[in-house]
Amino acid sequence: METLHVQTDTKQYPVLIGNKIITDLSPLIEELKPAVTSVLILSDETVGALYMDKAVESLKGLNQPVHTFVVPGGDGEKSFSNYYNSLTFALEKGLDRNSLIVALGGGMIGDLAGFVAGTYMRGIRFIQLPTTLLAHDSAVGGKTGINHPLGKNMVGVFHQPEAVFYSIDFLDSLPLPEIRSGFAEVIKHALIQDEEFYDYLKGEISDLSDIPPEKLSYILKKGISIKAKVVSQDEKEKGLRAILNFGHTLGHAIESESGYGTISHGDAVAIGMRFALQLSEELGDTNLHYKEISNWLKHFNYPSVPSKLDAERLLGAMKRDKKSTSGRVKMVLLEAIGQPYVKEVEDCTLLNALKKFLMTDKEK
Ligand SMILES: NC(=O)c1ccc[n+]([C@@H]2O[C@H](COP(=O)([O-])OP(=O)(O)OC[C@H]3O[C@@H](n4cnc5c(N)ncnc54)[C@H](O)[C@@H]3O)[C@@H](O)[C@H]2O)c1
Repeated sequence: METLHVQTDTKQYPVLIGNKIITDLSPLIEELKPAVTSVLILSDETVGALYMDKAVESLKGLNQPVHTFVVPGGDGEKSFSNYYNSLTFALEKGLDRNSLIVALGGGMIGDLAGFVAGTYMRGIRFIQLPTTLLAHDSAVGGKTGINHPLGKNMVGVFHQPEAVFYSIDFLDSLPLPEIRSGFAEVIKHALIQDEEFYDYLKGEISDLSDIPPEKLSYILKKGISIKAKVVSQDEKEKGLRAILNFGHTLGHAIESESGYGTISHGDAVAIGMRFALQLSEELGDTNLHYKEISNWLKHFNYPSVPSKLDAERLLGAMKRDKKSTSGRVKMVLLEAIGQPYVKEVEDCTLLNALKKFLMTDKEK
């Protein structure tokens, strides 16, 4: 087991990375002070069916009530109704200020459970038990929340977990499209911060259906370290943290305009990164070799922009992005690999760039 540390202005917490952590939850949680009075495990149906019993069994050692609440899977479930139902359940079960919420699942559950924890009785403790590759990103950093029909992640709070227990063996049951989705955030971390890591990924990872355990472990640790470093410097996204949104301005627009859950988060981000790379080359004096990176991304079978979406509609959704001010879109672009910057881009420039991008990148 390896431990990384996240240090923000409000909290310091460990990220444990290992295997079979689910069997050791009680001793890990017993270290929390003040002692936990009850536990609520939140999960989705797929993950719940696979791992809930094990989690409950493992928490018996606490000798405190353990409750479980399961919501349907998919990003459409990061919703007001599931948020409300989770809070109702927590109140009915009598969770108090020393209770603990455990997020057992991917980024959807992590964001939802974190938001429930961050707002229940003005904030109680929670732990992330990420079960997807993507959640190496979402479980770290304390952004929690739900989607609004008008925009992705539009309602939420910053609420850091007490700890993140990343058990790599969870990924054994993860379907390939979800591995691909999570790998997009790994690529993002490399592109925004670490050219050597990008070269490693390019040279060492060619088949996502068969990533050897030692390489998987390496890329997870690398991705988490990059995320932790950025979050440590700018917990509340006053500046630097915005670079983590590379690929997300168009990505979020694609997710909300397609209907949440229609396209995976990572697939949408992969499209968004290709667009951001194209724009970086159009607007900057760069040596990015955009086409080369873009072709490498495509090699993993990331999809193209869904055929029903056009440039005007996507621009409209991008203007609602949280980085936008007074309706002006701010894009995260790259000067070079590892050198991101944020730039306000005029609507007409964006619209033309989107049209150009869609000419080559739209689903046939
Ligand atoms: N908070 C943040 O900083 C942050 C960062 C990035 C992404 N996100 C959010 O994360 C979400 C996407 O996360 P995700 O890709 O993990 O999606 P997800 O949680 O919806 O999981 C994807 C699918 O995989 C299934 N699944 C999860 N773990 C499994 C396992 N071990 N075995 C089998 N099936 C499993 C789930 O049931 C679901 O169907 C989005 O809502 C996105 O906005 C948040």
